[in-house]
Amino acid sequence: MDVLEKCRSWTTEHLRDTGSDCYYRAITDTFGGTEVDFQGQRVIMAASHDYLGLSADPRVREAAVTAVKRFGTSLGGSRAVSGSLDLHEELENRLAGFLGQEAAAVLPSGYQANLMLAPLLTKDRYVFSDLSNHASLDEVIRLGDAEERKFLHGDMSHLEELLASAAETAGKLVLTDGIFSVDGDVCKLPDLMKLADRYGAHVVVDSSHDLGVLGPNGAGAADHFGLQPLLITSALSKSLASVGGVIAGPADVIHYLRHHARTSLFTAAASPANVAAALAALDILQTEPEHGARVLDLAEQLHNGLRALGYDTGASVTPVVPVLARGRERCLRMWRELLHAGVFTAPMTYPGVRTGREVLRITLTAAHTDQQLAGVLAAFEEVGRKEGLIPQTPQGVHTPVRVVRPEGIPTAATAASTGQGVTSGSPR
Ligand SMILES: Cc1ncc(COP(=O)(O)O)c(C=O)c1O
Repeated sequence: MDVLEKCRSWTTEHLRDTGSDCYYRAITDTFGGTEVDFQGQRVIMAASHDYLGLSADPRVREAAVTAVKRFGTSLGGSRAVSGSLDLHEELENRLAGFLGQEAAAVLPSGYQANLMLAPLLTKDRYVFSDLSNHASLDEVIRLGDAEERKFLHGDMSHLEELLASAAETAGKLVLTDGIFSVDGDVCKLPDLMKLADRYGAHVVVDSSHDLGVLGPNGAGAADHFGLQPLLITSALSKSLASVGGVIAGPADVIHYLRHHARTSLFTAAASPANVAAALAALDILQTEPEHGARVLDLAEQLHNGLRALGYDTGASVTPVVPVLARGRERCLRMWRELLHAGVFTAPMTYPGVRTGREVLRITLTAAHTDQQLAGVLAAFEEVGRKEGLIPQTPQGVHTPVRVVRPEGIPTAATAASTGQGVTSGSPR
């Protein structure tokens, strides 16, 4: 069969089922990152992972502009041979210190940061990966030759069973997201590291969604639990308001990976603007904890507002807020209706999630206002009722969500958000 045949048949079917509007939707303008314009229709952006709201911060923008003026828009080559700046090294040193690791390597994307693990996944080694990990962790397993063992999401008994069944002396790596990117729950890092220790495995945490959100220093899941996994990876496109990725760990491991991972050797350097933006955002993240506190407050109000309406936000206790849509068709239909009502959400269907697990994912940033939050809730109220997904009148009873917060960070809005309508259940 012609190699292109599947493209033709799939595209015809996909356009018929999904239409051309749900994915790869082109934004025509943006207003401080919290609202966007689609050819004249201005809506609340509730699908960006710019958690701290820094992509519109004048200091971050200015840093990017200054870097472009000094170094240009592109370095035109791989860092290994022609495109490395002292700015890259400065960001690597800063991120290594921030993440409590000896060294770090910066890549052009978070996806590539995870692919850096490939040289560790050689034959006769084992890799254990949570079923809900990000696609880039799946991809690196495919790239490597290690024996793959997937454990049920967050299921430590299953992980232990798999660890126990692997050859005792073989090298083992356990991979987990810090905050899971669709479910919004937090990995069980203490249990996972205990098991890893018992069975001679190393742990890698992808902290893309937890930087700036978890931990007393805002340094993610490892910081939150006070633990040190072997390696931490992260996208720079979320709390660090840029585009890029990082992998941090022991100096000799990072040195080895830089020289063996094809995703580093054979790709162009992260652009000067992106590196400078990440550095400026890191400065703000480390000196202004109020942005982290604000996004957590908003997330908690969003969870509880949705739950008061009768929605299910699953196991999330973080700013990643999934609304269970119960079916692909309804997910896409609701996405359109929400857009019509003025809110842009992320429709997560296969392959973003397994079939039957479709969700509308909502993420607000520290820059969103209380009015914008109210606008999101009003749109969900209208659309959910129309769809019959929530009761016509609020139930008045829901199990409140208390988001995971660093110790000592104030919860300004919590009392106001959960005080009303919460008459049963205990906080998770
Ligand atoms: C958990 C996780 N890891 C890695 C990535 C990839 O990062 P990037 O978008 O920078 O390639 C993402 C992005 O969505 C993510 O959510």
